[in-house]
Amino acid sequence: MGYVISVTNQKGGVGKTLTASTLASLLTEKGYNVLSVDMDPQSNFSQVAGGPGPIRRYDLKSLSILDVLKQECSIEEATVQTNIGDLVRASPNLTQWTGRSLLSRRDFHDLMERGLGAEEVVALLKERYNTGWGATEHKTLDWALRNVRQRYDFVFLDTNPSLTLLTLNSLYTADFVLIPAFTEESSRKAILELKDTIEQMKAENSDMHAEILGILITKYKKRTILAGQYLKEYERLAKSMGTVLFDARIRDGLAAAEYANQREDLVRYAPKNPVTQDYRVFADEFLERIKARGGSIRG
Ligand SMILES: Nc1ncnc2c1ncn2[C@@H]1O[C@H](COP(=O)(O)OP(=O)(O)O)[C@@H](O)[C@H]1O
Ligand SMILES: [Mg+2]
Repeated sequence: MGYVISVTNQKGGVGKTLTASTLASLLTEKGYNVLSVDMDPQSNFSQVAGGPGPIRRYDLKSLSILDVLKQECSIEEATVQTNIGDLVRASPNLTQWTGRSLLSRRDFHDLMERGLGAEEVVALLKERYNTGWGATEHKTLDWALRNVRQRYDFVFLDTNPSLTLLTLNSLYTADFVLIPAFTEESSRKAILELKDTIEQMKAENSDMHAEILGILITKYKKRTILAGQYLKEYERLAKSMGTVLFDARIRDGLAAAEYANQREDLVRYAPKNPVTQDYRVFADEFLERIKARGGSIRG
C-alpha cells in the first residue's frame, strides 16, 4: 500500500523541500520504496536529488511532471532514479499548464475581433463552466499516479508555495498532508488558509480523503520566548484541526541553509549534523504516525 504525502504550506521558505527531500533520503536509506514528485517550477527538489547519472539544472529535453500533466507521457516514463529514490522532476515551464483559465488570451482576442457584447461573453463563459471546463484538472495528477502508487511505500509531493492548480492536484490525490511551519505569525496564518482550502475542496469533491498528518516545526530556535509561545499556540491549532504537532522539531542550523548549494540532499551533505539528527528523529515519528493513522507499512 503506497501512501501519497503532500508536503504543503502555501507560504514559501518554510522547509517544504528540505523536509520532503530529507524524508525521501532517510526512508530510502531504511529500505522503503520512495517516489518523489517535484511540483515546484523552481525545481529545488530536483536539484538536490543527485545521481546516479548527472542531473542537469534546466534540462528541458528530458521528461518532467509537465509532460505528465499535459498527458503526453506516463509517470513511469518521466521517472528517473536518484540517490534518494525515484523522482519525477519539475519543469520551469510548469506555469504553462497552471495558467489556464475559462478564457484564454486567444479567446479574448477572438472575442474582441468579433465585437461580442457582454451578454454573449457571459453566455460563453457559462456554457464552458456548465460543460465542465476546468472542473477536473485538479484530478490530473491523481489519474497519473493511479497505476504507480501501489509500487511505492511512499510518494512525496513537493509543492510550490502559492495556491495553484499544482497545489490543488497534490491535495486532491494525497492520503496525507504534512505541513512544515515556522514559529511565526505568517506561518500560522498560512496553516489556517491551508485548512480552509482542504475543507473547501472536500466539500466539492466527495471522493477526496486528504488527512492532515501533522504540523512540523522547522527552523526552531529553542530558547526564544517567541518559539515557546508558538509551540503552545500550534498545539492548540493542531488539536482544533484534528491533527497533531509533531514532538520532533527541526532546529535552525547552517547545514540546512547550505545543503542546496552542494547539489546533494541534507543526509549526504551533513550526515551527522544536528539538523539531520532532528530529521532522523522526525522520520521515526512520521512512520509511527502513519501507522497510527493508516495501518500497514512494511518494516
Ligand atoms: N531548519 C533549517 N535551518 C536553517 N535553514 C533552513 C532550515 N530549513 C530550511 N532552511 C533553509 O530555508 C530556505 C527555504 O527552505 P526550503 O526547504 O527550500 O523551503 P520551501 O520549500 O518551503 O520553500 C532554504 O534556503 C533552506 O536551506
Ligand atoms: Mg520548495
